[in-house]
Amino acid sequence: MSQKRVLTGITTSGTPHLGNYVGAIRPAIEASGDQSIESFFFLADYHALIKCQDPEAVHQSSLEIAAAWLALGLDPDQVVFYRQSDIPEIAELNWFLTCMTAKGLMNRAHAYKASVQANQEAGEDDDLAITMGLFSYPTLMAADILMFNASDIPVGRDQIQHVEMARDIGQRFNHHYGEHFVLPSAVVDDNVAVLQGLDGRKMSKSYNNTIPLFLTEKKLKKHINKIKTNLLEPGEPKDPDDSAVFQLWQAFATEQQTAEMHQQFADGIAWGEAKKQLFELINDQLKEPRERYNQLIENPAEVEKVLQQGAEKARAYSSALMADVRKAVGIRPLG
Ligand code: TRP
Repeated sequence: MSQKRVLTGITTSGTPHLGNYVGAIRPAIEASGDQSIESFFFLADYHALIKCQDPEAVHQSSLEIAAAWLALGLDPDQVVFYRQSDIPEIAELNWFLTCMTAKGLMNRAHAYKASVQANQEAGEDDDLAITMGLFSYPTLMAADILMFNASDIPVGRDQIQHVEMARDIGQRFNHHYGEHFVLPSAVVDDNVAVLQGLDGRKMSKSYNNTIPLFLTEKKLKKHINKIKTNLLEPGEPKDPDDSAVFQLWQAFATEQQTAEMHQQFADGIAWGEAKKQLFELINDQLKEPRERYNQLIENPAEVEKVLQQGAEKARAYSSALMADVRKAVGIRPLG
């Protein structure tokens, strides 16, 4: 029986937050238990360099993200869990693909276009502060994906275009050099919640409105208390559909608990009380992982060992594929 191969990358800039957990980490770990799926998860540290040029921050984020996935129950024996920069074949494939990628395709990438537009609006030169890393970002992502012949790429909506570009690039390579790559598709799960942050906008590092996953209990409580609410008094009915508190509740609660909180909103629960219950709900679920996480952060060598084992597994695929691809493009020993 052929297994479905799923692959996704996590850019190592920043500290994992509740939005990452609910939107990406939790569903990925759940799906990875399915025996009919082969999962590849990796730390996209080459991608991190595009937006983050603080060496300590990139290094620390790699540790935190790897530790978070392991602490939350990712079983490295069931999946291939590795760090992008440990796979030298990715950088090489990136170049081969770059030579097969139309500049016009890259011109259309949303992330690049948004930067150009911001420059124009500020009356600056179109190219101000735009690196070739940002411009070529989708090609590197194509190398990540095509390298492992993954068919299904779970991503957020903002990444759909990049997966489609990977597909275009793979197709062009296949057409010119022969069939080497499986053409990938983006998989967007509409059931997965996109959490609001403290200020009501989407929870995102770029808005600085996140609740980090592994805070101390005290700090978690403090963050939850900072979630923006309206001025309705205790006893006044509250609209759950218009509340970040309720939305977070829903992301962690069972169906029954959600129905109960819905009723409490209708009955006019005080914001302070709703936040107290929310803290308890989330804290209960994060307590054990938090302990494992803290242990791993104190023992980076342990995390490193897991990543090295993952790299070994990943390279069994990547070195075999690159041997073929090198030959296909005409790079091989003379005579
Ligand atoms: N660019 C993705 C993001 O910012 C991360 C990423 C890098 C990725 N390479 C990938 C996701 C390959 C899926 C497949 O979210």
